[in-house]
Amino acid sequence: MKILIIGGGYVGNRCHEAWEDSVLETGRITTKEDVLKFIDEHKPDAILNAAGVRGKPNVDWCEDHQLETILGNTKLPITIAEACQEREVYLLHIGSGCIFYGDSSHEDKKWREGDMGNPVDVTYSRTKWAADLVLSTLPNVGIGRIRMPIDYIPSLNNMIDKLATFPKVIDVENSVTIVDDMVNVFRQLMEKKAPGIFHITNPGTLKHREIVALYEELVDPGHTNEWITNDDLVKQGLATKGRSNNFLASENLSKVGIEMREVHDAMRDTMEKYAELKKKGESSDKILTC
Ligand SMILES: NC(=O)c1ccc[n+]([C@@H]2O[C@H](COP(=O)([O-])OP(=O)(O)OC[C@H]3O[C@@H](n4cnc5c(N)ncnc54)[C@H](OP(=O)(O)O)[C@@H]3O)[C@@H](O)[C@H]2O)c1
Repeated sequence: MKILIIGGGYVGNRCHEAWEDSVLETGRITTKEDVLKFIDEHKPDAILNAAGVRGKPNVDWCEDHQLETILGNTKLPITIAEACQEREVYLLHIGSGCIFYGDSSHEDKKWREGDMGNPVDVTYSRTKWAADLVLSTLPNVGIGRIRMPIDYIPSLNNMIDKLATFPKVIDVENSVTIVDDMVNVFRQLMEKKAPGIFHITNPGTLKHREIVALYEELVDPGHTNEWITNDDLVKQGLATKGRSNNFLASENLSKVGIEMREVHDAMRDTMEKYAELKKKGESSDKILTC
C-alpha cells in the first residue's frame, strides 16, 4: 500500500517515520493542481492530510492570524479533497477533537462522531470544524479526529513535555490520543479506505493530574507544579482563549473493526518508554527529522 503524507510537521513526520513505505510531501500547496501533481507523481493508494495550521507557540496565535488559519485548516483540506475526488484516491484528513467545548447533551457527557461541533469563538476550532462539516459529506473521505497527542518520544509537541514544563497546569480531565495507537489507526483506516468521521482517542478519560503523577513516578520524582482551574488560564493572562476540554465517544472505529488500548494502560506503557528515552537523552530532534 502506497501512502502519500501531505504536511511535514509533527504528525506528518511521526507517521512517515513509522511507515517505511510512505512518501512525505512537504511542498507548499495553494491550488488543486499542486495536489494533482503530487498524486500523479506518486500514484498513492491513499493520502493522509497532516498539513494544517495549529499556531506556534500555541493555538492563541490563530486569534491574530485568522486568514492564515482559515487557509490552512479549511481551504487547504477542501483543495486536497477536490484533487483526491478527481483522481478517486482515498483521503484521510486529520481533524481535531477541539471542536467540542464542555459536556455534550448526551447522558454520559461524551461527544459522538455525528454530533455538531460547538467551536465557540476560538478561531482554530472554528476552522477545523468548518473543514469537518463540509468534507464529511464526501465519499471516499475519512476524518480522523485526534486530541492532545501523548507520545513516548520527547518533543515540544508532546503533551507529556508540555505538562512537565508548565509551572501552572490546569486541573482538567479529557479524552486523549496516544500517538503510537494513532499511527496504527491512521494506517488501518487508510487500508480499509474507511469513510466517515472517527474519534481517534483511547477509551476512557485521563486527568492531567494522572499524567503528571505518572511523570513524577517514572521520570522525575522532583517535579513540581501549581494547579489552576481552566478559567484561571485566561484570568491570569496565561492564554487568550479558554481551552477545549471534553470527553469523546469513539463509536465508529469499532464498526470498522479497529480497537485502541484503554487509556490508562496505554499511558503507562507510553510513560515507561518515554522515561527510557529521557534517560538516554533522546528527543524528537534526534529521532525525527521535524
Ligand atoms: N498536534 C496536535 O496537538 C494536534 C491535535 C489535534 C489535531 N491536530 C491536527 O493534526 C494536523 C497536523 O498537526 P501537527 O501537529 O503536525 O502540526 P504542525 O507540526 O504545525 O504541522 C503542520 C504542517 O502543515 C504544513 N502546512 C500548512 N499549510 C500548508 C500548505 N498550504 N501546504 C503544505 N503544507 C502546509 C506546515 O508547514 P509550515 O509550518 O511551513 O507552514 C506544517 O509543516 C493538523 O491538521 C492539526 O490541526 C494536531
